[in-house]
Amino acid sequence: RKPIKVALLGCGTVGTEVVRLLTDQAADLTARVGAPVELAGIAVRKPNKHREVPAELLTTDVDALVESDVDVVVEVVGGIEPARTWLLKALKAGKSVVTANKALLAEHSGELFEAADAAGADLYFEAAVAGAIPLLRPLRESLAGDRITRVMGIVNGTTNFILSGMDSTGAGYAETLEEATRLGYAEADPTADVDGFDAASKAAILASLAFHSRVTAADVHREGIAGVSAADIAAAKGLGRTVKLLAICERVTDNGTDSISVRVHPAMIPRSHPLAGVNGAFNAVFVEADAAGEMMFYGKGAGGAPTASAVLGDLVAVARNKVVSGRGPRESAYAALPVRPMGHA
Ligand code: NDP
Ligand code: HSE
Repeated sequence: RKPIKVALLGCGTVGTEVVRLLTDQAADLTARVGAPVELAGIAVRKPNKHREVPAELLTTDVDALVESDVDVVVEVVGGIEPARTWLLKALKAGKSVVTANKALLAEHSGELFEAADAAGADLYFEAAVAGAIPLLRPLRESLAGDRITRVMGIVNGTTNFILSGMDSTGAGYAETLEEATRLGYAEADPTADVDGFDAASKAAILASLAFHSRVTAADVHREGIAGVSAADIAAAKGLGRTVKLLAICERVTDNGTDSISVRVHPAMIPRSHPLAGVNGAFNAVFVEADAAGEMMFYGKGAGGAPTASAVLGDLVAVARNKVVSGRGPRESAYAALPVRPMGHA
């Protein structure tokens, strides 16, 4: 069968690992997909910086790469624009899209889903929430027949790395943040992590999928960890507790009417709580559904290789769909549940 041609947008912390996995596992991926998965081009800002990838694949002309005869566009650049324009263009042309861009999805998922459904294209984004952990596809697919009532957990690796460092070794805030950035966990602008914007974007995506609704980052009550001091951590310890940044998405039913409450804030939790043992850049998310009951998803939530694993899983899924001319779940039909303002949670 003819190859599935892939355009990779971005070759930084995540993109470099995507190239490595695609290259190292080429033969296995061909067998799994039923066709070779071929990198047709890699878009970056500064090609000279990228000695690790074949020079002939590099380009700075993202539009030309997206408009070329590729089947799939993988976006690991980040930010709202120009990523939104590139991905809309790809979807409208019927190309499948795989993205790790939570900031974009948390603001524009409606528009992207509609473009995907109108063109019969796939839009997959497992890497956008909780890194390597398979969480979004279980919400979109495995639990699609159930009624989810709550999704709650630790969804930002950088802040968890900082808080658990401060708790276990008494490490300072600034030095731990620097280390998280060096390890590739933090966003290009780490205030997105520490001020809770990243977790709020992820909470919006989780709530949208769990409750089949449209929740944007602006709907999420948000408090970051910048105000958490060493004294707060010590006080929590004295009470047999630890501080974690939690994302909480709940379906609230009042007099038979459903609404959604979504918030991100630091919380003191008992040291015996399962989330208290989630340290470093690990994430963990509890899901509660009427029929399934309670589930917990745990694993590496940030970093190049773990995130690339999720991207590759999506790439295999969309490539398989291309091979059989099928497609993944549609998302443009949704229930318009109201999001509650804080204070009503
Ligand atoms: P990096 O900053 O490491 O990489 C970004 C890449 O995008 C670079 O290769 C850069 O090019 C390229 N780029 C930036 N702007 C442009 C442009 N205008 N045109 C072409 N290329 C451009 O980011 P990450 O790899 O860490 O993150 C990428 C995405 O994945 C983001 O959406 C992030 O939120 C998400 N993500 C990241 C995780 C992580 O742990 N790092 C985990 C989960 C999701 P150049 O190299 O030449 O500068
Ligand atoms: N900056 C993010 C984090 C990357 O620390 O969780 C993973 O989405």
